[in-house]
Amino acid sequence: MGKFIQLNLRRQLLDDRIITGLDIGTSKVSVVIAEINDSGVLEIIGVGNAPCNGLRRGVVVNIEATVQAIIKAVEDAELMSGREIRSCFTGIAGANIEGINSRGVVAVSGKNREISEDDINRVVEAARAIAIPMDREILHVIPQSFIVDDQKGIKNPLDMIGVRLEAEVHIITGSLTTTQNLVRCINRAGFSVDGLILQTLASSKALLTEDEKELGSMIIDLGGGTTDALLFVEGAPYFSASVGVGGIQVTNDLSIVLKIPLDAAERIKKESGTCYLPHIDPGETVIIPGMPGKAPSEIPRINLAQIMQPRMEEIILLLREKIITMNYMHLLKGGIVLTGGGAKMNGVVDLVQEIFNMPVRVGVPSSLGGLTEEYQKPEHATAVGLVLMGAERHLAGNSIKEKPDKGSTSRHGVLKKISDWFKEMF
Ligand SMILES: Nc1ncnc2c1ncn2[C@@H]1O[C@H](COP(=O)(O)OP(=O)(O)OP(=O)(O)O)[C@@H](O)[C@H]1O
Ligand SMILES: [Mg+2]
Repeated sequence: MGKFIQLNLRRQLLDDRIITGLDIGTSKVSVVIAEINDSGVLEIIGVGNAPCNGLRRGVVVNIEATVQAIIKAVEDAELMSGREIRSCFTGIAGANIEGINSRGVVAVSGKNREISEDDINRVVEAARAIAIPMDREILHVIPQSFIVDDQKGIKNPLDMIGVRLEAEVHIITGSLTTTQNLVRCINRAGFSVDGLILQTLASSKALLTEDEKELGSMIIDLGGGTTDALLFVEGAPYFSASVGVGGIQVTNDLSIVLKIPLDAAERIKKESGTCYLPHIDPGETVIIPGMPGKAPSEIPRINLAQIMQPRMEEIILLLREKIITMNYMHLLKGGIVLTGGGAKMNGVVDLVQEIFNMPVRVGVPSSLGGLTEEYQKPEHATAVGLVLMGAERHLAGNSIKEKPDKGSTSRHGVLKKISDWFKEMF
Protein backbone atom coordinates (compact mmCIF):
# COMPACT_ATOMS: atom_id res chain seq x y z
CA MET A 1 0.00 0.00 0.00
CA GLY A 2 2.78 2.35 1.04
CA LYS A 3 4.58 1.63 -2.20
CA PHE A 4 1.39 2.27 -4.17
CA ILE A 5 0.99 5.69 -2.58
CA GLN A 6 4.63 6.45 -3.20
CA LEU A 7 4.31 5.49 -6.86
CA ASN A 8 1.21 7.61 -7.24
CA LEU A 9 2.96 10.53 -5.63
CA ARG A 10 5.92 10.12 -7.96
CA ARG A 11 3.54 10.00 -10.93
CA GLN A 12 1.90 13.20 -9.69
CA LEU A 13 5.27 14.89 -9.34
CA LEU A 14 6.26 13.83 -12.83
CA ASP A 15 2.94 15.05 -14.25
CA ASP A 16 3.44 18.39 -12.56
CA ARG A 17 6.72 18.83 -14.36
CA ILE A 18 5.54 17.75 -17.80
CA ILE A 19 3.97 20.27 -20.18
CA THR A 20 2.71 19.20 -23.58
CA GLY A 21 1.86 21.36 -26.59
CA LEU A 22 -0.43 19.83 -29.23
CA ASP A 23 -0.74 21.75 -32.51
CA ILE A 24 -3.53 20.36 -34.67
CA GLY A 25 -2.96 21.79 -38.15
CA THR A 26 -4.61 21.33 -41.52
CA SER A 27 -1.67 19.34 -42.84
CA LYS A 28 -0.09 17.83 -39.72
CA VAL A 29 -0.36 17.30 -35.97
CA SER A 30 2.74 18.35 -34.07
CA VAL A 31 3.43 17.46 -30.44
CA VAL A 32 6.12 18.84 -28.17
CA ILE A 33 6.68 17.43 -24.67
CA ALA A 34 8.73 19.51 -22.25
CA GLU A 35 9.86 18.91 -18.70
CA ILE A 36 10.78 21.36 -16.00
CA ASN A 37 14.13 19.90 -14.95
CA ASP A 38 15.62 19.82 -11.44
CA SER A 39 17.09 23.29 -11.88
CA GLY A 40 13.66 24.69 -12.78
CA VAL A 41 14.49 25.12 -16.48
CA LEU A 42 12.15 24.00 -19.23
CA GLU A 43 13.65 21.39 -21.51
CA ILE A 44 12.11 19.80 -24.58
CA ILE A 45 12.29 16.03 -24.30
CA GLY A 46 10.01 14.76 -27.04
CA VAL A 47 8.75 15.82 -30.46
CA GLY A 48 6.17 13.96 -32.57
CA ASN A 49 4.55 14.52 -35.93
CA ALA A 50 1.81 12.92 -37.99
CA PRO A 51 0.15 13.94 -41.23
CA CYS A 52 -3.47 14.94 -40.69
CA ASN A 53 -6.31 15.40 -43.14
CA GLY A 54 -9.11 15.76 -40.63
CA LEU A 55 -9.23 19.56 -40.88
CA ARG A 56 -10.22 22.09 -43.53
CA ARG A 57 -9.00 25.64 -43.15
CA GLY A 58 -8.07 25.08 -39.53
CA VAL A 59 -11.45 23.58 -38.56
CA VAL A 60 -12.15 19.90 -37.76
CA VAL A 61 -14.23 18.24 -40.47
CA ASN A 62 -13.34 14.60 -39.79
CA ILE A 63 -13.14 13.61 -36.13
CA GLU A 64 -11.82 10.06 -36.67
CA ALA A 65 -8.96 11.13 -38.96
CA THR A 66 -7.98 13.87 -36.50
CA VAL A 67 -8.10 11.48 -33.51
CA GLN A 68 -5.84 9.00 -35.32
CA ALA A 69 -3.32 11.71 -36.21
CA ILE A 70 -3.27 12.95 -32.58
CA ILE A 71 -2.68 9.41 -31.26
CA LYS A 72 0.15 8.80 -33.74
CA ALA A 73 1.92 12.14 -33.09
CA VAL A 74 1.61 11.77 -29.29
CA GLU A 75 2.93 8.19 -29.45
CA ASP A 76 6.02 9.38 -31.35
CA ALA A 77 6.69 12.14 -28.85
CA GLU A 78 6.10 9.77 -25.90
CA LEU A 79 8.49 7.26 -27.37
CA MET A 80 11.19 9.90 -27.79
CA SER A 81 10.71 11.29 -24.28
CA GLY A 82 10.09 8.01 -22.44
CA ARG A 83 7.12 9.68 -20.70
CA GLU A 84 3.39 9.15 -20.93
CA ILE A 85 1.26 12.22 -21.17
CA ARG A 86 -2.30 12.71 -19.93
CA SER A 87 -3.13 16.26 -20.89
CA CYS A 88 -2.00 19.01 -23.24
CA PHE A 89 -2.31 22.66 -24.19
CA THR A 90 -3.73 23.04 -27.65
CA GLY A 91 -3.93 25.81 -30.22
CA ILE A 92 -6.81 27.32 -32.09
CA ALA A 93 -6.73 29.25 -35.39
CA GLY A 94 -8.61 30.05 -38.55
CA ALA A 95 -11.26 32.42 -39.81
CA ASN A 96 -13.46 31.87 -36.72
CA ILE A 97 -11.01 33.85 -34.56
CA GLU A 98 -11.76 37.49 -33.84
CA GLY A 99 -9.71 40.03 -31.95
CA ILE A 100 -11.32 43.10 -30.36
CA ASN A 101 -9.71 45.98 -28.48
CA SER A 102 -11.72 47.05 -25.45
CA ARG A 103 -11.46 49.35 -22.42
CA GLY A 104 -12.68 49.33 -18.86
CA VAL A 105 -12.63 51.91 -16.05
CA VAL A 106 -12.90 51.56 -12.25
CA ALA A 107 -12.39 53.80 -9.24
CA VAL A 108 -9.35 52.82 -7.17
CA SER A 109 -10.70 51.24 -3.98
CA GLY A 110 -7.56 50.43 -1.97
CA LYS A 111 -6.58 52.35 1.13
CA ASN A 112 -4.58 55.54 0.46
CA ARG A 113 -5.71 55.24 -3.18
CA GLU A 114 -2.98 52.68 -3.75
CA ILE A 115 -3.80 50.41 -6.71
CA SER A 116 -4.20 46.84 -5.49
CA GLU A 117 -4.30 43.54 -7.28
CA ASP A 118 -8.04 43.56 -6.74
CA ASP A 119 -8.36 46.90 -8.58
CA ILE A 120 -6.39 45.46 -11.52
CA ASN A 121 -8.61 42.36 -11.62
CA ARG A 122 -11.74 44.52 -11.48
CA VAL A 123 -10.65 46.82 -14.30
CA VAL A 124 -9.72 43.88 -16.54
CA GLU A 125 -13.11 42.33 -15.74
CA ALA A 126 -14.79 45.62 -16.66
CA ALA A 127 -12.89 45.69 -19.97
CA ARG A 128 -13.92 42.15 -20.84
CA ALA A 129 -17.59 42.86 -20.25
CA ILE A 130 -18.48 43.13 -23.92
CA ALA A 131 -21.47 41.60 -25.64
CA ILE A 132 -20.44 38.49 -27.51
CA PRO A 133 -22.84 36.27 -29.46
CA MET A 134 -24.02 33.02 -27.81
CA ASP A 135 -22.07 30.90 -30.29
CA ARG A 136 -18.70 32.45 -29.40
CA GLU A 137 -16.43 32.23 -26.37
CA ILE A 138 -13.62 34.36 -24.99
CA LEU A 139 -10.24 32.65 -25.38
CA HIS A 140 -7.94 35.41 -24.13
CA VAL A 141 -8.16 38.78 -22.42
CA ILE A 142 -4.71 40.34 -22.67
CA PRO A 143 -4.01 43.68 -20.96
CA GLN A 144 -2.24 46.03 -23.37
CA SER A 145 -1.70 48.94 -21.05
CA PHE A 146 -3.22 50.82 -18.13
CA ILE A 147 -4.08 54.47 -17.62
CA VAL A 148 -3.86 55.86 -14.08
CA ASP A 149 -5.76 59.17 -13.89
CA ASP A 150 -4.24 60.90 -16.94
CA GLN A 151 -1.01 58.98 -17.16
CA LYS A 152 -1.04 56.64 -20.16
CA GLY A 153 1.05 53.66 -21.25
CA ILE A 154 1.54 52.03 -17.83
CA LYS A 155 2.42 48.33 -18.06
CA ASN A 156 1.93 47.40 -14.40
CA PRO A 157 -0.02 49.82 -12.20
CA LEU A 158 0.28 47.73 -8.99
CA ASP A 159 1.04 49.92 -5.93
CA MET A 160 0.78 53.17 -7.92
CA ILE A 161 -1.34 55.98 -6.46
CA GLY A 162 -4.42 57.15 -8.36
CA VAL A 163 -8.16 57.74 -8.31
CA ARG A 164 -9.19 56.33 -11.65
CA LEU A 165 -7.81 53.15 -13.24
CA GLU A 166 -8.41 52.37 -16.87
CA ALA A 167 -7.36 49.23 -18.77
CA GLU A 168 -6.92 48.70 -22.48
CA VAL A 169 -7.21 45.02 -23.37
CA HIS A 170 -7.22 42.80 -26.44
CA ILE A 171 -9.97 40.19 -26.36
CA ILE A 172 -9.73 37.13 -28.58
CA THR A 173 -12.89 35.13 -29.21
CA GLY A 174 -13.46 31.90 -31.09
CA SER A 175 -16.41 29.90 -32.31
CA LEU A 176 -17.80 27.61 -29.60
CA THR A 177 -18.51 24.71 -31.95
CA THR A 178 -15.01 24.87 -33.46
CA THR A 179 -13.36 24.65 -30.06
CA GLN A 180 -15.79 21.98 -28.87
CA ASN A 181 -14.99 19.77 -31.85
CA LEU A 182 -11.27 20.24 -31.31
CA VAL A 183 -11.57 19.33 -27.61
CA ARG A 184 -13.73 16.32 -28.53
CA CYS A 185 -10.97 14.98 -30.81
CA ILE A 186 -8.35 15.36 -28.07
CA ASN A 187 -10.61 13.71 -25.47
CA ARG A 188 -11.38 10.84 -27.83
CA ALA A 189 -7.66 10.35 -28.35
CA GLY A 190 -7.47 9.85 -24.55
CA PHE A 191 -6.17 13.22 -23.32
CA SER A 192 -7.63 16.11 -21.40
CA VAL A 193 -7.11 19.73 -22.39
CA ASP A 194 -5.21 22.01 -19.99
CA GLY A 195 -5.91 25.12 -22.04
CA LEU A 196 -6.84 26.50 -25.45
CA ILE A 197 -4.46 29.11 -26.80
CA LEU A 198 -4.57 31.16 -30.00
CA GLN A 199 -1.97 29.56 -32.28
CA THR A 200 -0.34 32.80 -33.41
CA LEU A 201 -0.11 33.97 -29.80
CA ALA A 202 1.68 30.74 -28.92
CA SER A 203 4.04 31.00 -31.94
CA SER A 204 4.88 34.60 -31.13
CA LYS A 205 5.94 33.51 -27.64
CA ALA A 206 8.49 31.22 -29.27
CA LEU A 207 9.55 33.57 -32.08
CA LEU A 208 9.27 37.29 -31.40
CA THR A 209 11.71 39.17 -29.23
CA GLU A 210 10.41 41.59 -26.60
CA ASP A 211 11.91 44.45 -28.65
CA GLU A 212 10.04 43.38 -31.77
CA LYS A 213 6.74 43.24 -29.87
CA GLU A 214 7.39 46.62 -28.31
CA LEU A 215 8.29 48.24 -31.63
CA GLY A 216 5.24 46.88 -33.49
CA SER A 217 5.77 43.59 -35.34
CA MET A 218 3.57 41.06 -37.02
CA ILE A 219 3.82 37.33 -37.11
CA ILE A 220 2.47 35.60 -40.23
CA ASP A 221 1.85 31.85 -39.93
CA LEU A 222 1.91 30.39 -43.44
CA GLY A 223 0.12 27.11 -42.73
CA GLY A 224 -1.28 24.41 -44.97
CA GLY A 225 -4.94 25.46 -44.87
CA THR A 226 -4.91 28.95 -43.38
CA THR A 227 -2.64 31.96 -43.19
CA ASP A 228 -2.94 33.70 -39.84
CA ALA A 229 -1.41 36.95 -38.67
CA LEU A 230 -1.08 38.61 -35.27
CA LEU A 231 0.10 42.19 -34.90
CA PHE A 232 1.82 43.32 -31.70
CA VAL A 233 1.88 46.97 -30.68
CA GLU A 234 3.74 48.26 -27.62
CA GLY A 235 4.40 44.73 -26.41
CA ALA A 236 0.85 43.34 -26.60
CA PRO A 237 -1.42 41.77 -29.24
CA TYR A 238 -3.42 44.42 -31.09
CA PHE A 239 -4.94 42.91 -34.22
CA SER A 240 -5.43 39.43 -35.67
CA ALA A 241 -6.35 38.45 -39.19
CA SER A 242 -6.83 35.19 -41.04
CA VAL A 243 -7.04 34.21 -44.70
CA GLY A 244 -8.58 30.81 -45.49
CA VAL A 245 -5.89 29.96 -48.05
CA GLY A 246 -2.51 28.30 -47.47
CA GLY A 247 0.22 26.04 -48.84
CA ILE A 248 -2.27 23.32 -49.83
CA GLN A 249 -3.72 25.65 -52.49
CA VAL A 250 -0.24 26.27 -53.90
CA THR A 251 0.20 22.50 -54.25
CA ASN A 252 -3.28 22.19 -55.82
CA ASP A 253 -2.44 24.88 -58.39
CA LEU A 254 0.79 23.09 -59.35
CA SER A 255 -1.02 19.78 -59.62
CA ILE A 256 -3.77 21.19 -61.87
CA VAL A 257 -1.59 23.32 -64.15
CA LEU A 258 1.21 20.77 -64.54
CA LYS A 259 -1.25 17.83 -64.65
CA ILE A 260 0.63 15.84 -62.01
CA PRO A 261 -0.59 14.01 -58.85
CA LEU A 262 -0.83 15.99 -55.60
CA ASP A 263 2.05 14.17 -53.89
CA ALA A 264 4.36 14.89 -56.83
CA ALA A 265 3.24 18.54 -56.85
CA GLU A 266 3.96 18.79 -53.09
CA ARG A 267 7.45 17.34 -53.56
CA ILE A 268 8.28 19.62 -56.49
CA LYS A 269 6.98 22.66 -54.58
CA LYS A 270 9.30 21.91 -51.66
CA GLU A 271 12.36 20.85 -53.67
CA SER A 272 12.38 23.18 -56.68
CA GLY A 273 9.54 25.65 -56.23
CA THR A 274 9.93 29.35 -55.60
CA CYS A 275 7.45 32.18 -55.30
CA TYR A 276 9.81 34.95 -56.38
CA LEU A 277 10.49 35.27 -60.10
CA PRO A 278 13.61 37.51 -59.87
CA HIS A 279 15.47 34.63 -58.15
CA ILE A 280 15.33 32.39 -61.18
CA ASP A 281 18.02 31.96 -63.75
CA PRO A 282 16.22 31.78 -67.16
CA GLY A 283 18.16 28.63 -68.12
CA GLU A 284 17.12 26.57 -65.04
CA THR A 285 14.96 23.50 -65.68
CA VAL A 286 13.06 21.00 -63.50
CA ILE A 287 12.08 17.38 -64.18
CA ILE A 288 8.34 16.81 -63.76
CA PRO A 289 7.17 13.22 -63.27
CA GLY A 290 4.48 12.09 -65.69
CA MET A 291 1.02 10.85 -64.72
CA PRO A 292 0.92 7.04 -64.50
CA GLY A 293 1.88 5.66 -67.91
CA LYS A 294 3.41 8.93 -69.14
CA ALA A 295 7.10 9.80 -69.42
CA PRO A 296 8.63 12.52 -67.19
CA SER A 297 9.17 15.88 -68.85
CA GLU A 298 11.56 18.78 -68.38
CA ILE A 299 10.15 22.29 -67.92
CA PRO A 300 11.76 25.68 -67.24
CA ARG A 301 11.86 26.38 -63.47
CA ILE A 302 10.36 29.78 -64.18
CA ASN A 303 7.07 27.98 -64.94
CA LEU A 304 6.87 26.88 -61.28
CA ALA A 305 7.34 30.45 -60.10
CA GLN A 306 4.70 31.66 -62.57
CA ILE A 307 2.21 29.34 -60.85
CA MET A 308 3.36 29.80 -57.24
CA GLN A 309 4.04 33.52 -57.10
CA PRO A 310 0.50 34.71 -58.00
CA ARG A 311 -1.06 32.44 -55.34
CA MET A 312 1.37 33.55 -52.61
CA GLU A 313 0.94 37.16 -53.70
CA GLU A 314 -2.83 36.79 -53.42
CA ILE A 315 -2.52 35.48 -49.82
CA ILE A 316 -0.12 38.21 -48.71
CA LEU A 317 -2.07 40.97 -50.48
CA LEU A 318 -5.30 39.80 -48.79
CA LEU A 319 -3.58 40.10 -45.41
CA ARG A 320 -2.14 43.50 -46.25
CA GLU A 321 -5.58 44.68 -47.34
CA LYS A 322 -7.00 43.77 -43.92
CA ILE A 323 -4.33 45.84 -42.20
CA ILE A 324 -4.78 48.79 -44.56
CA THR A 325 -8.57 48.68 -44.05
CA MET A 326 -8.05 49.01 -40.29
CA ASN A 327 -5.52 51.78 -40.90
CA TYR A 328 -2.85 49.92 -38.89
CA MET A 329 0.05 49.96 -41.39
CA HIS A 330 1.82 52.78 -39.52
CA LEU A 331 1.91 50.61 -36.38
CA LEU A 332 4.11 48.02 -38.09
CA LYS A 333 7.50 49.51 -37.32
CA GLY A 334 9.41 46.39 -36.29
CA GLY A 335 8.82 44.30 -39.41
CA ILE A 336 7.38 40.87 -40.08
CA VAL A 337 8.31 37.40 -38.83
CA LEU A 338 7.23 34.43 -40.95
CA THR A 339 6.47 31.00 -39.55
CA GLY A 340 4.62 27.78 -40.44
CA GLY A 341 5.72 25.32 -43.12
CA GLY A 342 5.18 27.94 -45.85
CA ALA A 343 7.98 30.04 -44.33
CA LYS A 344 10.37 27.46 -45.81
CA MET A 345 9.23 28.23 -49.36
CA ASN A 346 11.99 29.60 -51.58
CA GLY A 347 11.61 33.31 -52.25
CA VAL A 348 8.87 33.92 -49.66
CA VAL A 349 10.94 36.36 -47.58
CA ASP A 350 11.68 38.54 -50.63
CA LEU A 351 8.07 38.43 -51.79
CA VAL A 352 6.65 39.51 -48.42
CA GLN A 353 9.38 42.14 -48.09
CA GLU A 354 8.44 43.58 -51.49
CA ILE A 355 4.68 43.59 -50.77
CA PHE A 356 4.94 45.16 -47.30
CA ASN A 357 8.07 47.16 -47.99
CA MET A 358 9.62 46.40 -44.60
CA PRO A 359 12.13 43.97 -43.02
CA VAL A 360 11.02 40.31 -43.03
CA ARG A 361 12.68 37.30 -41.41
CA VAL A 362 11.85 33.62 -40.87
CA GLY A 363 11.29 32.84 -37.21
CA VAL A 364 12.77 29.73 -35.65
CA PRO A 365 11.81 28.73 -32.07
CA SER A 366 14.38 30.05 -29.64
CA SER A 367 16.61 27.52 -27.94
CA LEU A 368 15.09 25.91 -24.87
CA GLY A 369 17.61 23.20 -24.29
CA GLY A 370 16.88 19.58 -25.00
CA LEU A 371 16.34 18.28 -28.53
CA THR A 372 17.24 21.51 -30.31
CA GLU A 373 17.54 20.01 -33.80
CA GLU A 374 14.14 18.36 -33.63
CA TYR A 375 12.07 21.42 -32.79
CA GLN A 376 13.95 24.41 -34.20
CA LYS A 377 11.86 24.47 -37.37
CA PRO A 378 9.13 26.97 -38.35
CA GLU A 379 6.46 24.24 -38.48
CA HIS A 380 7.04 23.43 -34.78
CA ALA A 381 6.85 27.05 -33.58
CA THR A 382 3.19 26.70 -32.55
CA ALA A 383 3.73 23.54 -30.48
CA VAL A 384 6.86 25.02 -28.83
CA GLY A 385 4.94 28.23 -28.08
CA LEU A 386 2.08 26.22 -26.59
CA VAL A 387 4.56 24.58 -24.24
CA LEU A 388 6.01 27.98 -23.26
CA MET A 389 2.62 29.53 -22.59
CA GLY A 390 1.46 26.35 -20.90
CA ALA A 391 4.47 26.42 -18.57
CA GLU A 392 3.78 30.06 -17.78
CA ARG A 393 0.14 29.34 -16.87
CA HIS A 394 0.98 26.16 -15.04
CA LEU A 395 3.61 27.85 -12.92
CA ALA A 396 1.52 30.92 -12.19
CA GLY A 397 -1.34 28.61 -11.12
CA ASN A 398 0.85 26.57 -8.82
CA SER A 399 2.53 29.57 -7.29
CA ILE A 400 -0.73 31.32 -6.57
CA LYS A 401 -2.15 28.19 -4.97
CA GLU A 402 0.85 28.13 -2.64
CA LYS A 403 0.41 31.74 -1.61
CA PRO A 404 -1.72 31.53 1.57
CA ASP A 405 0.63 29.05 3.27
CA LYS A 406 3.83 30.87 2.53
CA GLY A 407 3.40 33.60 5.08
CA SER A 408 6.13 35.97 4.04
CA THR A 409 5.77 35.33 0.28
CA SER A 410 3.49 38.04 -1.02
CA ARG A 411 1.74 37.70 -4.39
CA HIS A 412 4.15 40.28 -5.66
CA GLY A 413 7.01 38.06 -4.58
CA VAL A 414 5.43 35.05 -6.22
CA LEU A 415 4.97 36.88 -9.51
CA LYS A 416 8.55 38.05 -9.32
CA LYS A 417 9.61 34.47 -8.82
CA ILE A 418 7.71 33.54 -11.96
CA SER A 419 9.32 36.25 -14.03
CA ASP A 420 12.76 35.33 -12.67
CA TRP A 421 12.13 31.77 -13.69
CA PHE A 422 11.19 32.92 -17.17
CA LYS A 423 14.28 35.08 -17.47
CA GLU A 424 16.26 31.94 -16.88
CA MET A 425 14.47 30.27 -19.74
CA PHE A 426 15.13 32.82 -22.46
N1 LIG B 1 10.14 23.63 -48.05
C1 LIG B 1 8.88 24.02 -48.25
N2 LIG B 1 8.57 24.82 -49.29
C2 LIG B 1 7.29 25.20 -49.52
N3 LIG B 1 6.25 24.86 -48.76
C3 LIG B 1 6.51 24.08 -47.69
C4 LIG B 1 7.81 23.62 -47.38
N4 LIG B 1 7.73 22.85 -46.26
C5 LIG B 1 6.43 22.83 -45.91
N5 LIG B 1 5.69 23.55 -46.77
C6 LIG B 1 4.23 23.74 -46.78
O1 LIG B 1 3.77 24.17 -45.51
C7 LIG B 1 2.43 23.74 -45.33
C8 LIG B 1 2.27 23.13 -43.97
O2 LIG B 1 2.63 24.07 -43.00
P1 LIG B 1 2.27 23.83 -41.48
O3 LIG B 1 2.83 22.53 -41.04
O4 LIG B 1 2.71 25.03 -40.75
O5 LIG B 1 0.69 23.77 -41.60
P2 LIG B 1 -0.41 23.31 -40.57
O6 LIG B 1 -0.07 23.85 -39.23
O7 LIG B 1 -0.62 21.85 -40.67
O8 LIG B 1 -1.70 24.01 -41.17
P3 LIG B 1 -2.61 25.21 -40.61
O9 LIG B 1 -1.78 26.01 -39.68
O10 LIG B 1 -3.00 25.96 -41.83
O11 LIG B 1 -3.79 24.56 -39.98
C9 LIG B 1 2.12 22.72 -46.42
O12 LIG B 1 1.26 23.27 -47.38
C10 LIG B 1 3.51 22.43 -47.01
O13 LIG B 1 3.44 22.16 -48.38
MG1 LIG C 1 -0.37 25.61 -38.19
